[in-house]
Amino acid sequence: MPERLVVLDGDYGVDDALALLGVAAEAGVRIVGVGSVHGNTGALQAARNALSVLGVAGLDGVPVAVGAARPLAQPVELSAEVHGDDGLGGAAPPPSARDREPAGVPAAVQLVDAVRRHPGACTLIATGPLTNLALAALLDPGIVELVPEVVVMGGTLDAPGNVGSHTEANFAHDPEAADLVLSAGWPVSVVGLDVTMRTWLEEPDLDALGASGAPAARFALTALGHYVELYRGRFGRRGCPLHDPTAARLALQPELGSYVEAPARVELRSPTTRGMLLVDRRPFVAAPPGAPAVRVAVGVDRDAVVGRLVEALTGRRQGQGSRGTPAGAC
Ligand code: BDR
Ligand code: CA
Repeated sequence: MPERLVVLDGDYGVDDALALLGVAAEAGVRIVGVGSVHGNTGALQAARNALSVLGVAGLDGVPVAVGAARPLAQPVELSAEVHGDDGLGGAAPPPSARDREPAGVPAAVQLVDAVRRHPGACTLIATGPLTNLALAALLDPGIVELVPEVVVMGGTLDAPGNVGSHTEANFAHDPEAADLVLSAGWPVSVVGLDVTMRTWLEEPDLDALGASGAPAARFALTALGHYVELYRGRFGRRGCPLHDPTAARLALQPELGSYVEAPARVELRSPTTRGMLLVDRRPFVAAPPGAPAVRVAVGVDRDAVVGRLVEALTGRRQGQGSRGTPAGAC
């Protein structure tokens, strides 16, 4: 089977880190580059977090580029309350312990380069605000035709929002970028709160991580401490939703989800619902020319998604890291 190439872009908080570890453990998948973006923490800290997580996964050759420090058209807002001051719930190593530096180009440029180097082959998996993807599409509109799929964690269709009554954090943190990415013309799949609030990491899953001596499981447990406590406070049960790992898993195994396909945009003007995902489910309305219908996840095989992640973290599934990766793999 030919190798599957992916470019990851995220705001490297706790669940982004778990998503990265899940992809890294996937046989037959190569991460050609990682970009960071504002959101859960600052873009530079997010890049440092991604470097640390790649180190845990044994992928020290994968380039990490720092991305946009702020959204396109609103002030930056970071989510330290959810992901801790360092974005990783206190699990980020101190600067002195880091031996790798981010790449010398912005994340949007790295993304364009990766797509141009591997035309038609790089799936983009975005787990943060979409600022870098929007900038890349503006920088080089030709890449839109060279990307087989963009899978985005963001938005919500019918589930309650998490930063507002109808809004999800990644879209709300840069609505203009999200709207641009949804309407750019490349095939987009949106994995929002409708499914990611169902792929809950439960107590027995946490116990499985605790019982494992694998480095990724130990790292995950440390990072999850603060996150799990926050969700216990919100929902009264120990565990947490796996937003970003779910999007990453559905990018690799779309058959684990069910979807509706419809024209979709993002609300930009309302003072109460700015950043809301707008899906036009009227059957008689076609997508406008140049902007194909968006595939929106509405169902998910929770046990398969969570089970695969636990396997990846506990070392029962080994991928790219265990095979070694050439430096500058991009
Ligand atoms: C999304 O927002 C961030 O806090 C998480 O990392 C995830 O990507 C969930 O709404
Ligand atoms: Ca994220």
